[in-house]
Amino acid sequence: MSRIVIVSNRTPGREPAAGGLAVALRKVLDEREGFWFGWSGKLSEDPAREARFENIDGLDIAQIDLTRDDYHAYYSGFSNSILWPSFHLRLDLANIESHWYEGYRRVNQQFAKALMAVLRPDDVVWVHDYHLIPLATELRNLGARNRIGFYLHIPFPTTDALYAIPHHGELMHDLSRYDLIGMQAQRDVAAFTEFAEHQAPSTFGAHTQPVDFSRTEIEVFPIGSEPDAFARMSTSPAATKMVKRMERVLGNQRLVLGVDRLDYSKGLPQRVEAYEKLLANNARLRRGVHFLQVAPPSRDTIKQYQETSDALDAMCGRVMGRFAEPDWQPLTYVKRAYGQPSLAGLYRLSRAALVTPLRDGMNLVAHEFVGAQNPDDPGVLVLSRFAGAAEIFPDALLVNPFDTDETAEALRMALDMPLNERRQRWTALMEAARHHNVNDWALRFLDRLAPGATATSSSRDI
Ligand code: F6P
Repeated sequence: MSRIVIVSNRTPGREPAAGGLAVALRKVLDEREGFWFGWSGKLSEDPAREARFENIDGLDIAQIDLTRDDYHAYYSGFSNSILWPSFHLRLDLANIESHWYEGYRRVNQQFAKALMAVLRPDDVVWVHDYHLIPLATELRNLGARNRIGFYLHIPFPTTDALYAIPHHGELMHDLSRYDLIGMQAQRDVAAFTEFAEHQAPSTFGAHTQPVDFSRTEIEVFPIGSEPDAFARMSTSPAATKMVKRMERVLGNQRLVLGVDRLDYSKGLPQRVEAYEKLLANNARLRRGVHFLQVAPPSRDTIKQYQETSDALDAMCGRVMGRFAEPDWQPLTYVKRAYGQPSLAGLYRLSRAALVTPLRDGMNLVAHEFVGAQNPDDPGVLVLSRFAGAAEIFPDALLVNPFDTDETAEALRMALDMPLNERRQRWTALMEAARHHNVNDWALRFLDRLAPGATATSSSRDI
């Protein structure tokens, strides 16, 4: 059986917390020969160009270092100040410094060179996310004829937003060098297909040939979590410790929870505004409800992220000033990360979760919240229509996160929802979370990518 090579910007050893993706892919690598390749997290003025192999907790990981300048242009610059905002339809927050493209391309070339030196002809390569769109082209330029797949964890943009990205023609040409492209949601494949069918023929990459996706297969592979593992974790000793701490503080108040990286795509100021409207419109709920927002800082060297953090500080301060009393606080806002067991405990304790990103690839918090519920007394998921998870969880209370009145009203419904309805909705959500679990997701993608795999009726050969 061929080896599996997973490639991503972050390797599992550097994940802030062991996420579902890392756990699922680790399982794949436990059963199949292979390794994980990526950036080491180290910056050096004169980095070695060969990959260093290390075995971390039983997982083979190959890593390279980057220079500070390359890292800045590739990660903070092109990836997170151009691609991320554009793919999330926030052109107002994009910083179009087209020279960052050179660093982005250079780092992809360095990845390709170091990987090529250790790649076998029959290895199957699975590349993850927007940091590494050019990797297949760069590997193929070095002679790789392997099966190479790409999975986009974030949404695919509309054609207009795509056109705002410098060198978008080359990037689309790069995508056409993959054998298989996986996306989170139907909406993403629809946007991609619109481009591939109508714009690609008149879009040119670095060469004079129009972009041609005829050899690339595109399919929806919605990522998931391990809901039953979350269920177990939610009653583990670490989770119970967190629950006990919170119960002491909460007393009779019902907990409303938000858990998100501190990112403008997550709609955090809008969410706090919706909570403010809930309290303003429903005086009876004051003192009986508490909103906890967990927001670990993210990409905080980028100005737009600092501004989001400031906006959230201001919103939380406003709600505190308006509604807090000497003996009651309407909300708690923590800018730090918690381990998964603590989060699982918080999910289980909460009566409602606000998962209201303005746009999101999937959103695994929604999946993990569902997994962690107590089946006898489950909480309610208030979910953005613009998260990929909305396609998986139609039984959540779906909201437009830009409409803070609508979100406030959905939260009121969640808090007033009778036990019967909560149970019915949760049963359907849990079934969907199980059906879309992350282990099946990984196996299904690798199955489609395997040499000799044939297209299914749901795949789109463009
Ligand atoms: O979901 C998109 C993503 O970029 C992942 O690839 C990454 O693990 C996560 O967001 C966190 O972002 P970062 O690696 O920039 O901290």
